[in-house]
Amino acid sequence: MRRREHWEQVYSSKPSDRLGWYKPRLQTSLEWITTLGLGPGEPVIDVGGGASTLIDDLLDEGYSSITVLDIAEPALDLLKARLGEKSTAVNWLCADITRIDLPENAFELWHDRAVFHFLTEAKDRERYRENLCRALRPGGHLIIGTFAPEAPPKCSGLPVQRYDLDLLRETLGKEFELQRHQKEMHVTPGGVEQMYLYCEFRFAP
Ligand SMILES: C[S@@+](CC[C@H](N)C(=O)[O-])C[C@H]1O[C@@H](n2cnc3c(N)ncnc32)[C@H](O)[C@@H]1O
Repeated sequence: MRRREHWEQVYSSKPSDRLGWYKPRLQTSLEWITTLGLGPGEPVIDVGGGASTLIDDLLDEGYSSITVLDIAEPALDLLKARLGEKSTAVNWLCADITRIDLPENAFELWHDRAVFHFLTEAKDRERYRENLCRALRPGGHLIIGTFAPEAPPKCSGLPVQRYDLDLLRETLGKEFELQRHQKEMHVTPGGVEQMYLYCEFRFAP
């Protein structure tokens, strides 16, 4: 099955709070974003944001320049429906991050929880990195959460590339300066333990 069809089918198969990656609140992401001290109008992108509650929380915190990119239209539709009128304040991109060409210097923050690790082919990771390096402003921030080596080898029926800190740093490249990192255990709604590696980088091209 093609990538887009896979994800469309996933979001059409179960309520979003029964999907493996569901968390009622992306606490680490929110705390780390808060401590970056961004102005409320600074542009932020959530790559592979799905239907996660991060956007509800960022809007409540007053962030006003938010882009959500996801390959699955049903995920974006779920999030739009939940946000109601507030959804008009968000810029929506239904796209594959390995295919779209994002604009230059467009974002101060790039957030990715559980998307990059699905890119198991080098050419897809390179396309992701090209977008990241073009669209993130110099001095901007990357917050990324991937499966850690202890996590299962698959998620949502797809193989994942698991990362330790060295591998993630090497894969992202020397332009990304590590600011902080932590391991975080996520337990899926079905009770499966998934260890994440969460990192914050500063983009210093
Ligand atoms: C595991 S979910 C994580 C969703 C959300 N970030 C969260 O933490 O709740 C992965 C998300 O990435 C999206 N996705 C997968 N591959 C993608 C790609 N190549 N480009 C854009 N989105 C993608 C999926 O549709 C899905 O919403």
